[in-house]
Amino acid sequence: MSKVPRLGILGSGSGSNCQSIYDAIQAGTLNAEIVVVLSDIPDAFILERARSWGVPAEVIDCGGFKTKFPDESQAAVAARLKEYDVDLVCLAGFMRLVKAPLLNEFPNRIINIHPSLLPNFPGLHAWEQAVNAGATESGCTVHYVDAGMDTGPILGQARVPVLPNDTAASLHARIQVEEHKLYPAMITKVLESL
Ligand code: GAR
Repeated sequence: MSKVPRLGILGSGSGSNCQSIYDAIQAGTLNAEIVVVLSDIPDAFILERARSWGVPAEVIDCGGFKTKFPDESQAAVAARLKEYDVDLVCLAGFMRLVKAPLLNEFPNRIINIHPSLLPNFPGLHAWEQAVNAGATESGCTVHYVDAGMDTGPILGQARVPVLPNDTAASLHARIQVEEHKLYPAMITKVLESL
């Protein structure tokens, strides 16, 4: 890609992964620009981070649904991302399932980070699932998004041990250290293929 690639980021929470992407850009290790951050949670810290960087931060209207991502909302997000001329959509702790209205507008251009070694422990609270299952190893996965739940083609993974005294929180913290390295590196990999 000859121009600086334009990233649109969707998140629902703290935005530490979004921060790692921003930091990699600032450090010059990721050649890209975050052009918009969108969240379904109006007071999510990810939006505050974006505003502090001077990046447009917008709330996704999900029509009052707690977990559903209505088709109209997905279509509106797709339109907004197009207006920002986004090249790659990065889900960074986004907790709603992306489906056709958004997927079809960005074929092979939506990626996600998930806190487990997929195909193990898809879905919510993957770190807690790993502890509860007695797993001895977990990690994180960056993958393309398809219509399934965390089922798209895998771009890369990083592994961490699950220690005997781990709680869900301590395991998640160890996984996040790896997420923050893996996601910017996998974004670079995807952008090189565009
Ligand atoms: C991350 O651990 C991410 O992998 C996970 O949510 C956390 C968000 O943290 N995503 C999922 O569980 C998606 N199903 P962050 O807001 O600090 O980046």
